[in-house]
Amino acid sequence: MKSDGVPMTVSARWQVFPDRAALAAHATMLILASARAAIAAHGQFRLVLSGGQTPLAVYARLATARAEWPHWHWYFGDERCLPAGDAGRNDTAIRHVWLDHIAAPPANIHAIPAELGAQAAARQYAALLTGLGDFDLVLLGLGEDGHTASLFPGRPLAASAEVLAVHDAPKPPSERVTMSAARLSRARQVLFLVTGADKRAAVTAWRAGADIPARAISGNVQVLLDAAAAAEEPSTTGSR
Ligand code: 6PG
Repeated sequence: MKSDGVPMTVSARWQVFPDRAALAAHATMLILASARAAIAAHGQFRLVLSGGQTPLAVYARLATARAEWPHWHWYFGDERCLPAGDAGRNDTAIRHVWLDHIAAPPANIHAIPAELGAQAAARQYAALLTGLGDFDLVLLGLGEDGHTASLFPGRPLAASAEVLAVHDAPKPPSERVTMSAARLSRARQVLFLVTGADKRAAVTAWRAGADIPARAISGNVQVLLDAAAAAEEPSTTGSR
């Protein structure tokens, strides 16, 4: 299946948890296991971070975990074009709950320089990613309208560029930078974290095969949902 030339998710694993805390505990365990495997296999762990509120509970758990932090590299799936250190930026929130509390080598935190504006930041981040290879793990969220990272409905998803400037995002701020669906799909594993009843319509559309941006992410995709987002009983695992 293809949409705009982008391979579609043909098989996603869906797992439903009773609540946000159970989902966060499982996601934390998966991330740490993925890190151990990647570091054992090739000496480092390349993780792409998702913005938004949902993953903050996971990041807070990771702040108290034991891990080989010097071998981790943190990348960002998207960023909001706000001044460096602004409380509305994804990297600021993530530093605050996680990265400021661990021995993360500053050179391993590959923030998007969104303070430069969308075009310049996208150019610089694309240069940083050049030749990097596949990520070990990509974390993503889901918006009420089906967006993921800063890939919003109604925009072409088939961009060949690895990093895109976004000028008209419906979720504020309108100026953003995002990795493309193709770049986000270049990963050993992709993990969506989705919580809250306000995501129900998007989840239902996604599972029904609707052409929402989240569906443009392909590969080894796993979706963790809480019961509120899934609108069904916990422990339902399936594929579609
Ligand atoms: C952002 C995002 C965005 C987010 C979803 C879900 O910067 O806003 O990366 O794609 O992940 O909108 O956000 P919540 O977890 O806050 O619902």
